[in-house]
Amino acid sequence: MENHNSGRMRAAVCTGYGDPEVLQVQEMPVPKPGPRDVLIRVHASAVNSADWRLRRPDPWGVRLFLGLRKPHIKILGGVFAGEVVAAGAKVTRFRSGDRLFGSTLMRFGGYGEYVSLPEKATMTTMPRGFSFNDAVALTFGYLTALNFLRRANVTAGQSVLIVGASGSVGTAVVELAAHFGAHVTGVSSAANLDLVRQQGTERALDYNSAEYTKDITQYDVVVDTVGKTHWKNHLSRVKPAGTIALVAAGALKTLYLPLLQPFYKPRLVALVASEKRIDLEFIRDLAEQGKLRPVIDRTYPLEQIAEAHRYVEQGHKRGNVVISLGR
Ligand SMILES: NC(=O)c1ccc[n+]([C@@H]2O[C@H](COP(=O)([O-])OP(=O)(O)OC[C@H]3O[C@@H](n4cnc5c(N)ncnc54)[C@H](OP(=O)(O)O)[C@@H]3O)[C@@H](O)[C@H]2O)c1
Repeated sequence: MENHNSGRMRAAVCTGYGDPEVLQVQEMPVPKPGPRDVLIRVHASAVNSADWRLRRPDPWGVRLFLGLRKPHIKILGGVFAGEVVAAGAKVTRFRSGDRLFGSTLMRFGGYGEYVSLPEKATMTTMPRGFSFNDAVALTFGYLTALNFLRRANVTAGQSVLIVGASGSVGTAVVELAAHFGAHVTGVSSAANLDLVRQQGTERALDYNSAEYTKDITQYDVVVDTVGKTHWKNHLSRVKPAGTIALVAAGALKTLYLPLLQPFYKPRLVALVASEKRIDLEFIRDLAEQGKLRPVIDRTYPLEQIAEAHRYVEQGHKRGNVVISLGR
C-alpha cells in the first residue's frame, strides 16, 4: 500500500455491469478532499445487497440513474471503517487519526484504499474496543433494522416474527428487537437456527419445517427481510391491529403498498431505509455497552472481491461479509 501522498491507491473498479468478474483491482488516483471533506484510509468494507444489486444491475432500472451502458460509480463499497488521514480546511467534526465507521450515502467508494467523504456523511467515531472489521458490520444491517423497527413501533412485550433472521438485516433486527424488549421468533434455514438463537430469539423456526408452516401464532409484528413469500401470506400470522414490515419489498411495491392500506387491517410498512448519523451513534453506543455483537460470516481480502460478491449473491450469508483493506 502506498501512502496517500503518492496519489495512487488500490481499488476494486466496477468496469461494467454484469457478473462479479467485472470487479477488477486496479491502481486509481487517491480522491482529493474538498474543504468540507475528510480523506479516510479504508481498512474494512463489506458486500451488501446495495453493492451487488448496483453491479448487476438489479433491478434493470438502476441503469436509468447510474448510466445506461456502464455505471458512472467506478468504486463500489457502500460502507467503511477506517482512519482519517487528512481533513479539509473547513472540517470541524473530525481530525487526522480519528477512527470512523459509517455509510457513504450512496456515494460508494469503500472498495478503495482511500475514500473522501463530506464530514456530514453518515459516519461517526468507532465503538471503543471494536476492530475495523467488526465496526463495518455494524452499519448496513443495523441502520436498516433500526428504520423498520421504529416505523413498526416495536416496543417491550410485543411478539415479533422475523422471516429471514440470519442475514445482515435479519441478525440486526433480532438483536435490536430483543434489546427493545420484544419476544422474538426468528425464521431461518435449519443450518442457521443456532445462530438465530444466539442473537436473542426466544424461538427459532426452520422455514422448511411443519412447526413453521403450520404455526398458527398471531404476532404483533411480522418483519420479512427475504421477500420470497407473497406478503399476503403474512396476513394470517399477524394480529388484526398488528404490523407487517417488508424490508425486501423492492422499489415498485414500496410505492404502491400505501395505496392498498385501506383494504387491510394490519399496518403495512415498506420503505427505503434512511441512513442518519444519529442512528449510527445510537448503534455505536449500544455496541460499546456490549449490547450488540455483529455477525461476520466471512472476510475476504480486496483481491478476492469477485469471490465475495459471488458468495453474497447466493442469498445465504450469515450476517455480514467483510472486505479487508488492511495492511
Ligand atoms: N428497504 C430497504 O431500505 C433495504 C435496506 C437493506 C436491505 N434491503 C433488502 O433486504 C434484503 C435482505 O438483505 P440482507 O443484506 O439481510 O441479505 P442477506 O444478508 O443476503 O440475507 C439473506 C437471508 O435470507 C435468508 N433466506 C433465504 N431464503 C429464505 C427463505 N426462503 N426463507 C427465509 N429466509 C430465507 C437467508 O437465510 P438462510 O441462509 O438461513 O436461508 C439469509 O440469511 C435484500 O433483498 C435487500 O435488498 C432493503
